[in-house]
Amino acid sequence: MARRLRIITGIAAVVLIAGAAAGLALAWRPSIAAIAPPRPDAFDPDIIKRGRDLAAIGSCNTCHTVPGGGNYAGGLPVPTPFGTVFSSNITPDAATGIGSWPEAAFVRAMRSGVSRDGRHLYPTFPYDHFTNVSDADDRALYAFLMTRQPVSATPPANQLTFPLNHRPLIAGWKLLYFHGGDVPSDAAKGAQWNRGAYLVEGLAHCGACHTPRNALGAERVNAQFAGGEVDNWHAYALNDTSHAPVRWTADALYAYLRHGWQADHGTARGPMAEVVDNLSSVPDSDVRAIALYMADISGTSPSNGKSPADAVAQSSTAQTDPAGAAIYAAACASCHESNRPLPYGGVNLALSTAVTSPDPRNLVNIVLAGVGGVAGERSPIMPGFAASIDDAQMVALLKYLRARFGKRPAWNDLDRTVRDARAAQAVSLAARDAPGESSQRGKP
Ligand code: HEC
Ligand code: HEC
Ligand code: HEC
Repeated sequence: MARRLRIITGIAAVVLIAGAAAGLALAWRPSIAAIAPPRPDAFDPDIIKRGRDLAAIGSCNTCHTVPGGGNYAGGLPVPTPFGTVFSSNITPDAATGIGSWPEAAFVRAMRSGVSRDGRHLYPTFPYDHFTNVSDADDRALYAFLMTRQPVSATPPANQLTFPLNHRPLIAGWKLLYFHGGDVPSDAAKGAQWNRGAYLVEGLAHCGACHTPRNALGAERVNAQFAGGEVDNWHAYALNDTSHAPVRWTADALYAYLRHGWQADHGTARGPMAEVVDNLSSVPDSDVRAIALYMADISGTSPSNGKSPADAVAQSSTAQTDPAGAAIYAAACASCHESNRPLPYGGVNLALSTAVTSPDPRNLVNIVLAGVGGVAGERSPIMPGFAASIDDAQMVALLKYLRARFGKRPAWNDLDRTVRDARAAQAVSLAARDAPGESSQRGKP
């Protein structure tokens, strides 16, 4: 289930810096000699299995597989404010993938964002996190990837504006923003917490979506987990600025990450649904570790110290928008306030970060598209309202939900948000229906 990621990976003014500071020496990295592709039976099956779990934690498939294309064959367009970067083919095909890469070249790519031939890679590939991955884990990832089906597929050329299409400039960006070594460790917190820190700050790259970025596309150091942007969704704040009406505990985080749903918070949608989907094959102990560490990050936000019952009881009864109230009563309340069981029972909206968040886009996305059921599971289902609610009705509904359940100041510019969300949804539906959008030449 690949998609267009909009992780902002700016490198704009790198131009200036690269010219002035970086210089040619830094901009140049040696090539590592090609090898004949190793035979799949050269790898230990246990290490391959470990690599599979690690690849799931790193969501490699989400960015490296296009709908209808070969697994890991690349070609997914990743939009940035400066143009589009296409993901690489990381299957063991010798000519178009990484089949001729020795392990050392793979480790260098993960560690420092450099391709086998010495070219700098765009930080759209989240090596600012992957740099924290251990050698042993990189080796397992390598073993996993080198034993996949080779696919012959060359991704389309990047569409970046001049001079950002010049890779040596990335050296300047790295000089400024690429440091690595930022996994906190604290023996007093125990092995599980430290395991969680290693995964969250490294392979799982949670901050790539949840941390806001600066004008040059680097994660803001002083705003870790303060909320970020991806693919027309807001990745909610997870630190002590979280707007979750009820505090995220380690148990709640575990349930949300394991099952994609938690009774006091609701469901994971959009790009987060894909993260949860990937995590579904990952050992329980690792999901617990991630939850434990994130619970510590989320700290004790003053705004979310309520119990679920209090959060629901305190929803405002002020009738701010009668038109919105009527739509809610007719179209939403029967599922969201009736304690219906899953799959049709949605959380009381007073528990949902979608209505308390400073950014209304996720709420709009979900009301337009609904929540799709997962085949073979008793997963939540909600119909989409794109066809039955027009823009003016949607705005009235949003105002009502914000006042009644969010109890926060009104959102601005809702007309535009609704228009943009409809347009983005039309684009993403069209992309999903058109598997030929990249120049994949994958063998079946
Ligand atoms: C957020 C999207 C994203 C994720 C997640 C991601 N990648 Fe990538 N990756 C990219 C993009 C985009 C490129 C191409 C960058 C460029 O051309 O400069 C890339 C490039 C690479 C390369 C360099 C290939 C070459 O030919 O130079 C390797 C190796 C790689 N990724 C491995 C991985 C692995 C392993 C994972 C999972 C642990 C992963 N990637 C997860 C987006 C991603
Ligand atoms: C590809 C981008 C992306 C990555 C990577 C990502 N998230 Fe998210 N996350 C999101 C988005 C978008 C949302 C909002 C989803 C929604 O509206 O349901 C979200 C929501 C959440 C929420 C719900 C917050 C709330 O208050 O409702 C939690 C908890 C969370 N993510 C934890 C994590 C953790 C832990 C990781 C790393 C293992 C992670 N996320 C990685 C994009 C991402
Ligand atoms: C057929 C039942 C049904 C109807 C009708 C329905 N929903 Fe839902 N809704 C759900 C289910 C099930 C979920 C996913 C489970 C959850 O979030 O608790 C959900 C999730 C949501 C969420 C995400 C909550 C969160 O943070 O996880 C929002 C927001 C939402 N619905 C708003 C609405 C609005 C607004 C309407 C009316 C226009 C509506 N729903 C109508 C069943 C329904």
